[in-house]
Amino acid sequence: MKEETVESAVVIPEFIRDLKQDPEMKGLWHYVFRSDENRKPIRTPDGKPDKRPFQWRDIFPEENGHVEVEIGSGKGNFLVDYAQKHPDYFIMGSEWDYTWAAFAHGRMEKRGVLHNAAMLRGDVFYFLRDCVKDNTVDAFHMYFPDPWPKERHHKNRLLRPDFLAEVARVLKPGKRIFYWGTDHKEYNEIALETFDAFPGCKVVERNTAEPTEGITTGFERKYKKEGRPIYRSVIEFEK
Ligand SMILES: C[S@@+](CC[C@H](N)C(=O)[O-])C[C@H]1O[C@@H](n2cnc3c(N)ncnc32)[C@H](O)[C@@H]1O
Repeated sequence: MKEETVESAVVIPEFIRDLKQDPEMKGLWHYVFRSDENRKPIRTPDGKPDKRPFQWRDIFPEENGHVEVEIGSGKGNFLVDYAQKHPDYFIMGSEWDYTWAAFAHGRMEKRGVLHNAAMLRGDVFYFLRDCVKDNTVDAFHMYFPDPWPKERHHKNRLLRPDFLAEVARVLKPGKRIFYWGTDHKEYNEIALETFDAFPGCKVVERNTAEPTEGITTGFERKYKKEGRPIYRSVIEFEK
């Protein structure tokens, strides 16, 4: 008789993260791997994402129902200008690089936007997937994401159908906007194809959009000086 194999519990460390406010920088939230005292990954017995009981009020105590998310904020140029322009919008930037996240936080503090702007330090894809409730976000901004130009690295690109599925899930019903910009021709084409193919998604301004409310980002300023082409689009999600 064939011997039965007993499957061991799956170790999927990316599902196990903790959301913690930085003790020094109150507008900076870390969403990073949780580890036990031996810093070993904790097991999820069923291998499913570890959903967190999160609500936007946790990071924005004064939140009024209007929440926007920026994917990959870098040094926070867009985030602080936009938050200052819209004191009644609550905008969360995100950055997995600690140094840049802390830098952006410094800017938020100087501009006095800590009541309506926050930075998430961590992988924003997992934060959306594991923490953010359905129908709670008004708009997304994604400017100059890492292009991962080498073919073998394309899998690291964030603008993928599974990412858009999380975006669509968390956006509120009705027509909602996703602002997109890049200097990378090939990534741009693939991204626009991905939007085109995604149910309920319509590219309403294709490569002709201006910087959102005239606010340019840090990378955009640098690329413009270098004379690189900039592709900006506005995408509408409807559900
Ligand atoms: C090229 S920079 C652009 C920064 C800014 N948007 C700008 O235009 O100046 C892209 C940023 O996205 C961040 N990033 C990439 N993938 C991320 C992810 N999954 N979660 C959070 N941040 C991410 C990178 O660390 C990097 O700082």
